[in-house]
Amino acid sequence: MGYYLVEGGRVLGGEYSVGGSKNAVLPILAATILAQDEVVLENCPLISDFFVSLDILEELGCQVHREGRTLTVDSRSLCRTEIGEDMVGRMRSSILFLGALLGRERRASLGHPGGCTIGRRPIDLHLRAFEKMGVHIREVEDIFHCEAPVLLGYHIYLDYPSVGATENVLLLAVKAEGTTVIHNAAREPEIVALARFLRACGAEIYGEGTPTIMIEGVRKMHGAVFTIPFDRIEAGTFLCAAAMTGGTLYLKGAQRQYMERTLEVLEQTGCALRYEEDAVYLQAPTRLLSDFTVATGPYPAFPTDMQPMLMSLLTLAKGTCMISETVFEARFRHAAALCQMGANIQIHGRNAAVFGVEKLHGARLEAADLRGGAALLLAALAAEGQSRVYGSAFVERGYEKIEDALTFLGGRVRLVSEKG
Ligand code: EPZ
Repeated sequence: MGYYLVEGGRVLGGEYSVGGSKNAVLPILAATILAQDEVVLENCPLISDFFVSLDILEELGCQVHREGRTLTVDSRSLCRTEIGEDMVGRMRSSILFLGALLGRERRASLGHPGGCTIGRRPIDLHLRAFEKMGVHIREVEDIFHCEAPVLLGYHIYLDYPSVGATENVLLLAVKAEGTTVIHNAAREPEIVALARFLRACGAEIYGEGTPTIMIEGVRKMHGAVFTIPFDRIEAGTFLCAAAMTGGTLYLKGAQRQYMERTLEVLEQTGCALRYEEDAVYLQAPTRLLSDFTVATGPYPAFPTDMQPMLMSLLTLAKGTCMISETVFEARFRHAAALCQMGANIQIHGRNAAVFGVEKLHGARLEAADLRGGAALLLAALAAEGQSRVYGSAFVERGYEKIEDALTFLGGRVRLVSEKG
């Protein structure tokens, strides 16, 4: 794995346009196989998880063509329903192809997506919902073999508003017979984007964005042209970068209504924020403040994906902040690396107490996951001196050339490949 070479101590700011959402495009790429016709997706983020999904679509026999950020998928040539462990291991969210393949072909085989460094990440809610709708599942040597001779709509009660489980049930239900109702559904903007895409392809879905979603199964779905919405986590990441380095940022494409809790917390740290319909303007204070508590949770609560970057920001704030990570059981691994830079953080189970310090110093750092890596990059930018952040492959899963973006905003970041 390569590393980012970062010169700290520079102010980040200026004007930047947010890209397309990773967590919206991934389920929508799986959904393209339900539209037995050509689909065009615009504003796609050119991140590694996007390209892994294209590999999966091609492995299944779909025709895929990309020009810049515009992708065309034609699934009429789909000829396989198995996704091997090697592919699944490259990207956990390949589990979303399970629902789409079952919805389209009534059968699918998929390696177990496994967990990752932020938690066990089971898929029991997905599988239990599938079985309720008539899917027969056999697990043989970590491969799930699924068949659905008859796929029937059902009332699905999710014990937790899981994003992935909600998405997978949507993908299964749009072509099931009869009505499906998802109770305690996830409400994330990415669920709304997926529902809008499926509706553009002819699905009948009502209530997305609320805890209850109703789907009337249809027999056939057609193609569509769809624009991927902005990435609210990428937007939050760049706002934190400006806030931590004393900068002023005009972020085009960021929509306040999908980032309310994140923006509220940034205001609590003393940032001055102004809003336009399709942009957010942030001015950092001379010193960030942090005498408050934050708990992550299902949307519209503070997003767990923003927790690592917020922790980074709080290390330099005046005061103490208690962060409670209620979504994933192991999502504080970036804290140890931040302490290597001089941060003062105490972890107690799912709670982290962040005691602000005056400054951080550069260090050799190891990222353990995507958002943890982004958090270490931000800390390195705000620190004094030089840092190396190893684990660039994690960061590239969710950010498109972040080294160029941060340099464009005034930072000094270079990606050094393994070969140096
Ligand atoms: C999605 O993951 C996102 N990934 C994650 O973003 C995000 O952190 C997460 O939602 C929460 O918002 C994509 O959209 C590709 P969940 P997902 O199912 O669907 C438990 C990033 O950095 N659970 O809502 O896997 C689970 O263990 C990534 O962009 C079960 O117990 O999240 C966790 O504690 C990281 N059983 C909680 O629910 C299940 O069957 C939330 O998981 C499913 C989930």
